[in-house]
Amino acid sequence: MDDLIKKAAEDLSGAKNVTALTGAGASIESGIPAFRGKGGLWEKYDPMEVAHIDSFLQDPVKVWNLLIKDMKDVIDQAQPNDCHKGLAKLEDLGKLKTVITQNVDGLHQMAGNTDVIEFHGTFAWQRCMECNTHVETRHVDISEIPPRCDCGGIFRPNVIFFGEMIPQEAHWRSHQVATECDVMLVIGTSGVVQPAAMMPVVAKESGAKIIEINPESTLLTGEISDYLIKGPAGDVMKGIVAQIEKMD
Ligand code: APR
Repeated sequence: MDDLIKKAAEDLSGAKNVTALTGAGASIESGIPAFRGKGGLWEKYDPMEVAHIDSFLQDPVKVWNLLIKDMKDVIDQAQPNDCHKGLAKLEDLGKLKTVITQNVDGLHQMAGNTDVIEFHGTFAWQRCMECNTHVETRHVDISEIPPRCDCGGIFRPNVIFFGEMIPQEAHWRSHQVATECDVMLVIGTSGVVQPAAMMPVVAKESGAKIIEINPESTLLTGEISDYLIKGPAGDVMKGIVAQIEKMD
């Protein structure tokens, strides 16, 4: 792993425009479970039952009780880990421009990254399904489920459920930065969910080097990524930043 960390530090030091794509694995060390694999949320719940827009519309009480309330507690307590801090440091060092994240936890912004594309929306806001009023999640009273807006409408998290479109702006911008970057860090994603998993492909086809960080191989490994650094994102990012600081 150390050789690959050195290699990544060299590749990043020589880069002009770095983008990162992150998934649930980037937030595991902050106490937020991933979706797939051992201990993943989808081991406990059927995603089509608790994370598809049709199931939310059919029974918002069930989805609020089963998934959303748990997520709120976990996200409320979560703090940025060394992966988030490392990406913020790479921005400070003038290497990293943009983070495309599939995560809805807001931890990249909390760590200090200033250009974060929330590809699957954010849990920091709820919106009313009647009048579309947006309210910060921390201001929404969830003592009654489902929580309701002053207009009587039901609140839903401002995340993208399965069966919903990716917001056009987020999709378009992600595609843009993927074509422009010369190095893409792909951190903690299984590469299963589309269209997010297309972004490393777009970057690769535009000539970028793809560096993957994950304790396990994924669908991208060997196909799209130039190399995989097998390890937890926090440790690996901490190692990479330390190497870059030594080189600079
Ligand atoms: N550091 C880095 N990666 C890790 C770590 C770690 N400490 N621990 C686990 N991983 C990796 C796993 O090996 C796996 O490849 O993180 C990945 C998590 O994969 P998923 O749970 O599938 O998460 P993600 O790819 O973000 O899912 C995409 O699916 O359910 C939907 O909307 C949800 O945004 C989510 C999307």
